[in-house]
Amino acid sequence: MSTEDGAANVMWGGRFAQGPADIMAAINVSIDVDRRLYEQDIAGSLAHCSMLVECGVIPAEDGAAISDGLTRVREELRAGQFSFRRELEDIHMNIEARLAELVGPAAGRLHTARSRNDQVATDFRLWVRDEIDAIDSALRALQAALLDQVERHADTVMPGFTHLQNAQPVTFGHHLLAYVEMLGRDRGRFVDCRRRLNECPLGAAALAGTSFPIDRHMTAATLGFDRPMANSIDAVSARDFAVEFLAAGAICAMHLSRLAEEIVIWCTDRFGFVSLSDAFTTGSSIMPQKRNPDAAELVRAKSGRLLGAMTGLLVVMKGLPLAYAKDMQEDKEPTFIAADALMLAIAATTGMVADLQARPDRMRAAANEGFITATDLADWLVRTLGLPFRRAHHVTGTIVKMAEDRGCALDALSLEDMRKVEPAITSAVFEVLGIDQSVASRTSFGGTSPERIREALVAARERFL
Ligand code: ARG
Repeated sequence: MSTEDGAANVMWGGRFAQGPADIMAAINVSIDVDRRLYEQDIAGSLAHCSMLVECGVIPAEDGAAISDGLTRVREELRAGQFSFRRELEDIHMNIEARLAELVGPAAGRLHTARSRNDQVATDFRLWVRDEIDAIDSALRALQAALLDQVERHADTVMPGFTHLQNAQPVTFGHHLLAYVEMLGRDRGRFVDCRRRLNECPLGAAALAGTSFPIDRHMTAATLGFDRPMANSIDAVSARDFAVEFLAAGAICAMHLSRLAEEIVIWCTDRFGFVSLSDAFTTGSSIMPQKRNPDAAELVRAKSGRLLGAMTGLLVVMKGLPLAYAKDMQEDKEPTFIAADALMLAIAATTGMVADLQARPDRMRAAANEGFITATDLADWLVRTLGLPFRRAHHVTGTIVKMAEDRGCALDALSLEDMRKVEPAITSAVFEVLGIDQSVASRTSFGGTSPERIREALVAARERFL
């Protein structure tokens, strides 16, 4: 297991005579996961290298050789021509070993005043930061797709639900705008996370800092960080940025799962509020009539990965003593899996939202069921007859019962019938019993009237797009 010259490992062979047991190597290796950090790792190394030259820590010609070499390694990686070696454990050592092959002993100077502990913390922060930027634009695209549907359906009346029972009529545009708001807050959470994570661990070295005269402000600025992290022990120990990223992701995925679930419900034969095209549905291998909203179901399910990843990383970090421990190598896999799942879920949701065809006739028919304007009747009794709301609620309940017993809608009852319950009711009551009147009357800020929805649409495009 040891290498021929007796050096067990290119990095720490001075101390070790033997190589690791196979099972030690198997549990230790992370290259299959952290190879994904290569862009960030090379960016970090390039910044570190030029700072070392600038500060006179390494000779300029070695610095130039290292930079050229890193650029070539990056080309190999981008072209898929890099051969990863599992015995080199992780992405940091793979890149450094290849650099040594390309530029010789000068490569050995790159790791001056640096440790893999601050290196990996820096790489991972850079990766999460890039991912946040990608998620932000994906979420914006989803908001744009929703707002296009809002524009089409500012006047489309559907039943609004509580307890998934008909509650009050709303417009489909209003309902979709609720998701635009949720996604706006989701974006805000990612932006907050980005702001807090944007400090640079590089130069913290193993944990204590370094005796070399480095300039951490320089590397921080080169890498687009706002400042170096203030405490070197914290710099290599902290993973709350990743937990926070996953928490923002879990909340966002929870929102997507609610929309996905509604799409599933809306697509059922019973509801039929929307239909999805061939592009976003699948058929059944046995039932020829089927058209299944699989994408929506999978978006609904992906939220499990996000929540699982967040919980998993919290458990990894819980109770860990400062500073670095190898436990923390388990931070990346769940984060990558979760981020991929989230990006896919956002893209699939955007596709479905753009694809879905609303069926206003079905929505309207459903909105006419379930005595959905009962609140309008109660409000009318309060406004016109001056009844206390509780009394109006009771009167309305009696009238609803009457309609229910007869199997008719509220506005199909006669004035005479209603007067049996409350003698002061006049024929003007019929003006509030229709669903269009109901929707049009809800003009309070944030309310469902088409007038407000059109204003809210303009405002949302300004705020979010
Ligand atoms: N592969 C390691 C990780 O992802 C890099 C840091 C290793 N540091 C160490 N002291 N062994 O965490």
